[in-house]
Amino acid sequence: MSLNVDLLQSSFDLVMEREPELTIRFYEHLFARHHEVEPLFSRNSRAQQALMLARALGAVVEHLEDASWLEQTLSVMGARHVGYGVTEAMYDWVGEALLETLAEVAGDAWSDELAAAWSEAYGAIAGLMKAGAQQAAA
Ligand code: HEM
Repeated sequence: MSLNVDLLQSSFDLVMEREPELTIRFYEHLFARHHEVEPLFSRNSRAQQALMLARALGAVVEHLEDASWLEQTLSVMGARHVGYGVTEAMYDWVGEALLETLAEVAGDAWSDELAAAWSEAYGAIAGLMKAGAQQAAA
């Protein structure tokens, strides 16, 4: 992965500072477009889910240069997501909602460069999770 790590980390810090409830906004975007996934989020309260997602994203952003951590953590996480009823197609929906939320919160600071960097990073993250899901299914 040759990700623009500095750009990703600084923009993540910026959006978390501007909107600590970034992940709550993310769920609003996701469910507005894809009502059908909302019932899958039934194990924990929305506040707990948002906190877990924010922590997971933060940990991934901190480990962007640690390929073995990413591979190990994300493949196990992808395998767990099979049990939540998550399908491959849903990864694209989550990616779109995440980028939409990041752009909204970043506001004027958002740019084509940031959009490309986040899209590439999310693609890599989702790819590792999906590979873990496939291994679990095999
Ligand atoms: C960047 C990709 C993703 C990350 C970092 C992420 C992170 C997490 C985390 C940390 C949890 C808490 C439980 C656990 O660790 O297993 C979780 C749960 C969950 N995720 Fe994801 N996830 C991602 C992608 C997705 C996608 C594509 C879907 C599809 C809609 C999804 C749906 C769910 C559901 C349904 C739960 C269980 C929620 C509950 O009821 O508590 N996630 N996710």
